[in-house]
Amino acid sequence: MKILFATPECAPYVKTGGLGDVSAALPAMLAQLGHDVHLLMPAYRGMKVSGEIGDGVDLPAYSHWPAAQLVPVKVDTGVTLLLLTCPALYQRPGGPYVDASGRDYFDNAMRFGLLARVASQLGTVHSPLRGWRADVVHANDWPCGLAPLYLAQTRMIAPHEPTAASILTIHNLAFQGVFPMGEADALGIPHHWRGIEGVEFWGDLSMLKAGIQFADAITTVSPSYAREIQTEEHGAGFDGILRARASRLRGILNGIDRRLWDPAQDKLLPQRFTREDLKGKAECKSILQQRVHLAVDKSAPLFAVVSRLTAQKGIDIVLDALPALVRAGGQLVVLGQGVPELQEALTAAARQHPKQVAVTLGFDEALAHLIEAGADAFLMPSRFEPCGLNQMYSQAYGTPPIVAPVGGLLDSVTDATADPQRGTGFVMPSCDAAGLQDALGRALAAWKQPQQWRRIQSNGMAREFGWEDSALQYLDVYQAAGVVVDGGKASELAAR
Ligand code: ADP
Ligand code: GLC
Repeated sequence: MKILFATPECAPYVKTGGLGDVSAALPAMLAQLGHDVHLLMPAYRGMKVSGEIGDGVDLPAYSHWPAAQLVPVKVDTGVTLLLLTCPALYQRPGGPYVDASGRDYFDNAMRFGLLARVASQLGTVHSPLRGWRADVVHANDWPCGLAPLYLAQTRMIAPHEPTAASILTIHNLAFQGVFPMGEADALGIPHHWRGIEGVEFWGDLSMLKAGIQFADAITTVSPSYAREIQTEEHGAGFDGILRARASRLRGILNGIDRRLWDPAQDKLLPQRFTREDLKGKAECKSILQQRVHLAVDKSAPLFAVVSRLTAQKGIDIVLDALPALVRAGGQLVVLGQGVPELQEALTAAARQHPKQVAVTLGFDEALAHLIEAGADAFLMPSRFEPCGLNQMYSQAYGTPPIVAPVGGLLDSVTDATADPQRGTGFVMPSCDAAGLQDALGRALAAWKQPQQWRRIQSNGMAREFGWEDSALQYLDVYQAAGVVVDGGKASELAAR
């Protein structure tokens, strides 16, 4: 099958969160399973890519967009990277979505509109890559949300031309790509799709809504989140349309990329370790304590957070539970960046308890790996969590996670109190400070029983969290969506 995976970020080139990890792992697994996978992403400033670079292809001029090129690069995972090169839109200091001062770029509608436009074009007979047309366009999150709409538009204009099936994966419903409706002209959104049945969302236009309305299939990154987003509480205003499209919506749990996250082979760790021999983990703990200037103390249980510092992640809940954790003799190491007030509150706590609380603000891949390896337990009291990757990494690294009872956390952690034989972590009874304290108390009690703790670590380290299973589920979804598009001829698609 020819698969076009469109994404605004992909590790190791550009990553702000889990989507970067998924974009690196899932396409590579699909390629490994024998499919022809092209990954489309913008060529941001300073991106380092190695591989066999092909000739750039000039893109046809699309309405209001500046001139752009596609540069194919064959990378070592077997995936062809298609770098969408448009210096006027993407060569900027700052991150993929925000400028150096943290503000959204003023022209994000056009920046990501182009990404979606090109993604859709690659799934039509007018594909700019000669000889290559996608059978499936897999759009990720709001930045690619218009791709299914553009494909639907092509089908309306030229119903007899074959077009790719469109898949939207929602990695986080909280990011909705909302822009003034005034942008609709420049984006080429037809008038008849600017209403409530189309892209309209409280008077504005939402690129995520476009994807939800027009995709042939919708997935999200865990079965529990797929259920939750159909409720008013977690639907972020989209629960109605998600319920209406429920038959097209499916949750597929993310996996973890063992090439990068395996404590026995992790090149970013000072000491490596395995499920059978955790000596290296104990060494990682003291190296970590030194590195972040905590008291170097084997007997202090070390809790960890590696996260965007936002309300979603329940960082305020960690702050509320912190006094009890400190009183119990625990330590906390935090790596993250985000909301200034949360950064300040964490830094203040570190100043108050310098031997027990350490906070590093910023994005640091190597330190994230050392924390996963060196900590005793991991905290994720998220208010909602579409999937979450850190709770899976921490299980692989013998660091039982303490998690909120939501989304992908529920689908990937087994509570060790409820199931002492198979438990891999601790699930909070509620998503608040009392819930975290309850789970923390149970974790501390278990930690004091080395045999019991060892079993929890060992259970977690034995978990597979493989990408292959999930990739096979995506292939199922692609195939079913293809059936929808070409009314029965899709078995041919699946066989390719
Ligand atoms: P989300 O995508 O909502 O941020 P996930 O748990 O899915 O949450 O993925 C977060 C990813 O980003 C993980 O790979 C995590 O290790 C990484 N990460 C988050 N914050 C940092 C940071 N400050 N430094 C390094 N890695 C980080
Ligand atoms: C989002 C979610 C996170 C998920 C990630 C990758 O950023 O917040 O839960 O793991 O996407 O799918």
